[in-house]
Amino acid sequence: MPTIALTGASGFIGQAIANRFCKAGLKVRGLVRTSRKIPPFEHPNFTRIEGSLDKIESLHQLLEGCTGLVHSAGTIRGLKKNDFWPTNVQGIDNLLHVCLAQSHPPRIVHLSSLAAREPSLSPYAWSKREGELLIERNAGPLHWTIIRPPAVYGPNDKALLPLFKLGKKGIGLRLGSPASKFSLIHVHDLTDVILRSLEVDGIHSATFEVDDGFLNGYSWESVFRVINPHMKIHLAVPGKFLWFMGKSNEILSRVFRYSPLFTTGKVAELTHTNWVCNSSDVRQKLGWTPQIPLEEGLRHLFASDSLMVAKKN
Ligand SMILES: NC(=O)c1ccc[n+]([C@@H]2O[C@H](COP(=O)([O-])OP(=O)(O)OC[C@H]3O[C@@H](n4cnc5c(N)ncnc54)[C@H](OP(=O)(O)O)[C@@H]3O)[C@@H](O)[C@H]2O)c1
Repeated sequence: MPTIALTGASGFIGQAIANRFCKAGLKVRGLVRTSRKIPPFEHPNFTRIEGSLDKIESLHQLLEGCTGLVHSAGTIRGLKKNDFWPTNVQGIDNLLHVCLAQSHPPRIVHLSSLAAREPSLSPYAWSKREGELLIERNAGPLHWTIIRPPAVYGPNDKALLPLFKLGKKGIGLRLGSPASKFSLIHVHDLTDVILRSLEVDGIHSATFEVDDGFLNGYSWESVFRVINPHMKIHLAVPGKFLWFMGKSNEILSRVFRYSPLFTTGKVAELTHTNWVCNSSDVRQKLGWTPQIPLEEGLRHLFASDSLMVAKKN
């Protein structure tokens, strides 16, 4: 049974990858930081490796004898480039060194982001592009695939769910310009394309944008129509107000010393008008097609969310 190393195994996407891969009969060795007391995921095929991207010893433990590496660890919160660099850039450098030291180096699938297409927008976007560049320049003989997902939704996601839930209640909150167009992908489709990247032979180096197959991208209005066709209230949050909120959060984060998600950088990403993927390349080269349209993905998401709420009560 092939063994796949997985970083970010405690994260939203990492847990979905571990789940999908174990169910597909693969062994998964998941890197989990020691601060995580609760096991991210339990399955007979899953082995937890305690460590982090800056602990080289743990990366050797993670990668020894693995046929593939899925790199899903990433920093998504922070203020400046230095907050993102240690994980999103230096972390990749460390992984490449350890991969190259293996007698049979693993195939690499790196989870970048569509944000890497616009590195000047934010420190996060910059760090994701720098991480890609490191792989492009330093991977040498390693076989690698970079996946650039747009916004990902699904069970355990905390970023999009509040907006979707608000929409379900009849309130559509449009963030940024009415001209904005974006792609989406359900986390199950994302795990599928990652698995496919490890399986398909003959690809030495490739960068793929992936989406749910919705042509020319969604507008906020088209997403709200799917969530709730009878939506009564449409609130447009102007870019300047979003920027003010981002700036305020940055100041608060400095005072109370936390890592902010919502910053002026995030606002620049949110208000960028073109986050539409072109997934023709991945479909052609990997023979992959997404399976979950937004209607179906949201139906499952709302069902699993109400199940979680019921369990908590
Ligand atoms: N979610 C999206 O919509 C989306 C879209 C495009 C791209 N992506 C990319 O997909 C990847 C996963 O995102 P996600 O949504 O799953 O994020 P997440 O839920 O925040 O998970 C991030 C994971 O990375 C781990 N991590 C962070 N720094 C680490 C370090 N120094 N050493 C080891 N592990 C570390 C975290 O561990 P802890 O649990 O210990 O914090 C966590 O397991 C990221 O690279 C992100 O840039 C996400």
